[in-house]
Amino acid sequence: MQQDRRILIGITGGIAAYKVCEVISTLAKAGAQVRAILTPGAQEFITPLTVATLCRHPAYTDACFWQPTHKRPLHIELGEWAEVFALAPLTANTLAKLACGLADNLLTNTVLASTCPVLLAPAMNTDMWEQLPVRRNWDLALTDPRYHKVGPGAGVLACDRAGAGRMAEPEQILAHLESLLHTKGERDLTGLRVLISAGGTREHLDPVRFIGNPSTGKMGIALAQAAAHRGASVTLVHGPADTAAIADLPEVRCIAATSAEAMQRAMRSCFPDADLTVMAAAVADVKPAACSAEKLPKRALPESLPLQPVPDILAQLGGLKQPHQRLIGFAAQTGDIITPARQKLQEKKLDAIAANPIDLPNSGFASDSNRAVFLDAGGRQAEIPPCSKLQLAHHLFDFVRHQASAHRERL
Ligand code: CTP
Repeated sequence: MQQDRRILIGITGGIAAYKVCEVISTLAKAGAQVRAILTPGAQEFITPLTVATLCRHPAYTDACFWQPTHKRPLHIELGEWAEVFALAPLTANTLAKLACGLADNLLTNTVLASTCPVLLAPAMNTDMWEQLPVRRNWDLALTDPRYHKVGPGAGVLACDRAGAGRMAEPEQILAHLESLLHTKGERDLTGLRVLISAGGTREHLDPVRFIGNPSTGKMGIALAQAAAHRGASVTLVHGPADTAAIADLPEVRCIAATSAEAMQRAMRSCFPDADLTVMAAAVADVKPAACSAEKLPKRALPESLPLQPVPDILAQLGGLKQPHQRLIGFAAQTGDIITPARQKLQEKKLDAIAANPIDLPNSGFASDSNRAVFLDAGGRQAEIPPCSKLQLAHHLFDFVRHQASAHRERL
């Protein structure tokens, strides 16, 4: 997916430098061209040889700066070469230089000589992170639209303190880089409130037994990530799911909802404030007619289970939709995916739908990749071949962007 994309990593002197090795390794294995610059401080933690081996390319240090062997100045070459630049870990010292536009080594000169989006992944002790000058530098740096942030998170730090300042996890940095490669740093959903549902619902018969489905919530979580990376403020209503991937995103508010009725309540209460709603959840269509508060002994289980329908949340939202709101559904299909998806688009009064095959390899429930055909109410159709769920999420926002941005222009 990152085949031949040109990614530059700047490593500064913090213990989290060891974690960036995993980022580099994953990118290189995915076929990306990765180049890395280490500051003198970074070399106290990891060696240029480690980084060069993972990059499959020599690593750059200040010793290479202004070497006559380069045809053009190295910082200019690297700055022009990069499609995206990540500074991980970012120390308080280098952050201060970025905030002021200072350039006193190869890394900071390359930042100034580049024009691509720059992802900042700070890492430092909690007291350092909370110092007023550091906060000021952070806020000042982020006034530059070139700079995007990931983390820092909170947790136990290498100094044995628990608090803010922990570098974002490699998966979070990788997801952000994937988004930046797609969007080129554009935050085209800024100002929009995006409501997303994710995961499967569970319709309990008793506390330990339920009717459910294999949905893991990965698609909805990828949609939340993509929307947040594009500048939206996001509410994610989710069934049981691992939400670690969005833990670093202050732009995403999570609401847990286990049953279809809980999800219906949450979606209906958030819907009036949403500009764009994407219903990616796999809602169970039925529930047991009765639910016991106590665990039923095996012998008390019925031989056949009376069922009741659960509300169709998306159809209800379609009925409540105001002219400024956009509503998008997913259609999990086998066989012919287009005809039933088009029918759902019309019946549920949607603006667009993602027809999602669940019977093909590399797509559907639990997979990290997915594919879809997007249809909209105006008759447009776009087929997205297998890609990561995050990329599919970006393609969906690209597909509906003109509708969402037309709305934003009216705001
Ligand atoms: N959906 C919903 N509430 C339900 C069932 C589905 O909001 N009770 C939403 C899903 O989140 C999805 C869309 O409706 O966005 C289509 O869901 P899907 O399961 O593909 O189809 P159904 O409408 O349930 O119809 P069928 O099961 O007959 O294909």
